[in-house]
Amino acid sequence: MLFQSVCITSISAMTLSPKLTKLLNEQINNEMASSYVYLGMAAWFEQTPYSGFAQWMFAQSREETMHALKFYQYVVDRDAKVELQPIAKPKSNFKSPLDVFEHSLKQEQTVTQQINDLFEVAEQVKDHASKNLLLWFLNEQMEEEKTVRDMLDRLKLAGNDPASLLVLDREAGSRKGVGAGADAAAGA
Ligand SMILES: [Fe+2]
Ligand SMILES: [Fe+2]
Repeated sequence: MLFQSVCITSISAMTLSPKLTKLLNEQINNEMASSYVYLGMAAWFEQTPYSGFAQWMFAQSREETMHALKFYQYVVDRDAKVELQPIAKPKSNFKSPLDVFEHSLKQEQTVTQQINDLFEVAEQVKDHASKNLLLWFLNEQMEEEKTVRDMLDRLKLAGNDPASLLVLDREAGSRKGVGAGADAAAGA
């Protein structure tokens, strides 16, 4: 009898809860939407002289796709069902590089909140494997928010000075993992 109840406990502990499954599926979509938001930003920069910022946003878009695929693989590995949803149309017009990066920071803060909420649910249902995955994402979010905030601070200092903006653009284009093409993104 005791053996049976231990088995039942361990089997149920290994199954992804329906609530967590639903939220993880939503997060696949959130990350794909994020990828699309960054691709929209890259496309906007492509119409400006700022090719470095365009490369930055393109690389960021690929990184968000990798995040979506990490959640996808996790749901598959937990033997739960992946259900893909439509991706919302991203914003396509911006006022300035500063405006783009302000949207980027808001985007990252939204995703951090989503992952925080997911972590809370994983904690409620005592799903430690999910908590472990989500901790990785929370650290990633902290880094991404910091990187965007650093660039935002410098863009604010540069103001409307074209020479300063072009220096930042060049710096953005030389950021690690940016401009190295598909191989760098695939290995990220
Ligand atoms: Fe992400
Ligand atoms: Fe991100």
